[in-house]
Amino acid sequence: MSQIVRSKKDLKKVIAKLKSTNQTIGLVPTMGALHQGHLSLVQMSKKQYDVTVATIFVNPTQFNNPTDLNQYPRSEKADLAVLSKAGCDIVFIPDTEDVYSSKPTISLNFAHLETAMEGKHRPGHFNGVGLIVMKLFGLVEPTGAYFGQKDLQQFKVISTLVHDFELPIRLHMAPIIRENNGLAMSSRNKRLDKQQIKIASLIYATLQKASSSLKEGTSLEDVKTEAKKIFEDQSSIELEYFEIVLFETLQTISTVNEGDRLALCVAATLAEVRLIDNIIIDI
Ligand code: PAJ
Repeated sequence: MSQIVRSKKDLKKVIAKLKSTNQTIGLVPTMGALHQGHLSLVQMSKKQYDVTVATIFVNPTQFNNPTDLNQYPRSEKADLAVLSKAGCDIVFIPDTEDVYSSKPTISLNFAHLETAMEGKHRPGHFNGVGLIVMKLFGLVEPTGAYFGQKDLQQFKVISTLVHDFELPIRLHMAPIIRENNGLAMSSRNKRLDKQQIKIASLIYATLQKASSSLKEGTSLEDVKTEAKKIFEDQSSIELEYFEIVLFETLQTISTVNEGDRLALCVAATLAEVRLIDNIIIDI
């Protein structure tokens, strides 16, 4: 059984005890509605650290769309059961009043990450992510923390925090866990029916196709046009962006050079559900 901790006050006591016995702590922050993607992070943490702390908190400050926040799936009972089964040691599941007992006064800005892709389409989102992740880092004092490649730009934002504030926390980027049809697992997939899940597999299929084309030497322009055309032909999915960027900086490129590590990133909406995915390739 995982130990369930519901307040900051209790968490601090639990962490102080772990620290006094020099135990290493792996942190897995989540917003719940857990799936195999989340559990893979727990499994990785368990292999690496003495104690694994997962957190479940639907963080209001990172939602720029109130409907998305209201409709975000919540399944506390099932989440606690799967975390226990996965052998997660501690689950921190606070309420909003406790986490935001005082209104944050600072706001975080992540330079060009604010104007690229997710930053551009979700203004204020990374400020909210940065706030909650810094709070969790401060409360849990983890040795290492796990985040998924699925949210690649989020990972870069958190790497920026760790780098700029010199936080003594090792970051691990976990691979994307997918459904059998290639669709990246996401809590938001719970809002899709069977037929829509089938249609959504187009996202990963397009990323794969674009990767092969790039590796074969097709020009950037042609790869982008081809990808956009695939989405145009499927009227039920609306493409928000399809970008080819440098993996390190997430900056867009004008030419592809040998030795480049690239990230191909997509955001698309299907039945009012916003889905993101990406693929990393070496040229
Ligand atoms: P959430 O969307 O619940 O995701 C929690 C973690 O699981 C993130 O690091 C995310 O990248 C990872 N993840 C999601 N889907 C995955 C998949 N299919 N395969 C592998 N990993 C996956 O991301 C957040 O919550 C929040 O922004 C959070 C960091 C908790 C801050 O509120």
